[in-house]
Amino acid sequence: MPMTTSKAAAFEPGDSARASGFMEIAMRLKREHEQLKLQCDALCELSSRTASSTSLAGAIAILAELRAQAASLLALLERHSAWEDEEVFPFFSRYYKLKMEPTIMPSLWVLEKDHELAVQFFESFLQASDALLGLMGVDAPWTALTEVKQSCDDLTQGCLILTSHFEMEEELIYPMAEDILTDMDYLFS
Ligand SMILES: [Fe+2]
Ligand SMILES: [Fe+2]
Repeated sequence: MPMTTSKAAAFEPGDSARASGFMEIAMRLKREHEQLKLQCDALCELSSRTASSTSLAGAIAILAELRAQAASLLALLERHSAWEDEEVFPFFSRYYKLKMEPTIMPSLWVLEKDHELAVQFFESFLQASDALLGLMGVDAPWTALTEVKQSCDDLTQGCLILTSHFEMEEELIYPMAEDILTDMDYLFS
């Protein structure tokens, strides 16, 4: 039965180390996405609230907190994404190659472009807010308030792109994970 052969090529019967390695990857992905999504939602909420502020002093007061949260989310995202590049994507890529099925990896690589775009929005917020904090006490508060709002809109946009990136990534990866688990059930039962 050709299907059996290709599955055995991906997971040799009795190879429990490989099976538990996969479980670890799947659980870590879920855990990290949950944490990233929570931070992203909180940041998006604070950023939209700041953008609707009517007082420059009020908006500026929140800007430092927004910058700290944005930088912390970016650092977490960078670690997560490096791990995906090093372990998650090569794992799935290898699995589908061994099964000799058309790979859906290109979709994942395309998805990573969203990630890059989100990071660009975050960076643009960080740059603009840094300049704005240096302008505290400016003569033209309304201009500055408009700029604060614009920089917060960039951050909100970055958060929305990221949230949709996590969701699309899960829509691709979770079915693959289920597929692999089914293969394992078959091999180890
Ligand atoms: Fe990703
Ligand atoms: Fe991810």
